[in-house]
Amino acid sequence: MKTYLVTGGAGFIGTNFIYYLFNKYGSNIRIINYDKLTYAGNLENLSEIPDDYRKNKNYIFIRGDICNEKELNILFNTYNPDIVVNFAAESHVDRSISNARRFIKTNIEGTHTLLETAKNKWLNKNKWKKGKLFLHISTDEIYGELGKSGYFSETTPIAPRSPYSASKASADMIVKSYFLTFKMPVIISRCSNNYGPYQFPEKFIPLIINNCLNNRKIPIYGDGKNIRDWIYVEDHIRALNMIIEKGKPGEIYNIGGQNEIDNISLAKNIVDIVAKQTGINIDDSLIEFVNDRPGHDYRYAMNISKIGNKLNWKPEYLFIEGIRKTINWYMKNRNWLNEIVNGEYKEYYKNMYENRIG
Ligand SMILES: NC(=O)c1ccc[n+]([C@@H]2O[C@H](COP(=O)([O-])OP(=O)(O)OC[C@H]3O[C@@H](n4cnc5c(N)ncnc54)[C@H](O)[C@@H]3O)[C@@H](O)[C@H]2O)c1
Repeated sequence: MKTYLVTGGAGFIGTNFIYYLFNKYGSNIRIINYDKLTYAGNLENLSEIPDDYRKNKNYIFIRGDICNEKELNILFNTYNPDIVVNFAAESHVDRSISNARRFIKTNIEGTHTLLETAKNKWLNKNKWKKGKLFLHISTDEIYGELGKSGYFSETTPIAPRSPYSASKASADMIVKSYFLTFKMPVIISRCSNNYGPYQFPEKFIPLIINNCLNNRKIPIYGDGKNIRDWIYVEDHIRALNMIIEKGKPGEIYNIGGQNEIDNISLAKNIVDIVAKQTGINIDDSLIEFVNDRPGHDYRYAMNISKIGNKLNWKPEYLFIEGIRKTINWYMKNRNWLNEIVNGEYKEYYKNMYENRIG
């Protein structure tokens, strides 16, 4: 039975990834979800995992920090993971601007600690154990920003511009160095902006939806002309699974939604759809321009021909489909939104599932 160690599995993309794997492989796999449960991690996200999977140890949650070498050693000795998927990170650019310390700690030091632990467990007398893979989840933001034209490819030089993206870029270089130096089976994936269920409502799309549902102002940085390439989270995760199944160690794969839209158009679209779907009396007057984010990257756009040619992957969701699904999910899960926004869930769920190792 293949064992996946998913770090940061109680966050947005990690949660969606765990559900995807169970939907696809059922009880033929084992998933260890290792998460520190920062403000962004929420165990309630995973409450729909069937009880049988918990009872039969197909799903195990361990609360822990990827910076903790001692715990990681015990975890590897106990569960001998085959595939490590490293989602764990501080992920919000604005928070990295207020205070970068935790970004440096988790995103760089944590990734290195996890990598080094896996290396020590997987390398035996100069030979790598069979069937092992370390997949590091990275971002398009490490490439910096684009002007009105052009695309990031896997060979575009790294040029991060925020403390968040600089910490992710540093981690990428360390991960790559383990392939170049030790031939460790690592792969790096770099994806554009995700949206979908379970995203923490400080991020742009759930923030807009939440503010629409509560008839609150929608803050937009600067002139709202910054462009992102949005991808529905399920498309990202399908790509990650293909990379695990068919990707080549040592390689980097860009993943993107092929769906560029500027912030102001995105906000207007969402206001419009929420108004139609709920009957709430809202319009564009909710949108409010606020001072721009310092160092705000103008545009990101991905060249995804490598993953298309090598792994035969492309995004399947049209933006309108993905965004409707997402809005419906947040409308149906207003309790989830409210609990997060009010911070009520935190202590309750931490105590419910806490299961420290070591
Ligand atoms: N959201 C996006 O649009 C996007 C796009 C490309 C890449 N990524 C990358 O994907 C990964 C997941 O992003 P997300 O949006 O799901 O983030 P998220 O903030 O929703 O989740 C991060 C998770 O990591 C956990 N975590 C944080 N520090 C930890 C530590 N030291 N040890 C263990 N767990 C820790 C948190 O508790 C949380 O559950 C990140 O590495 C991010 O850089 C995100």
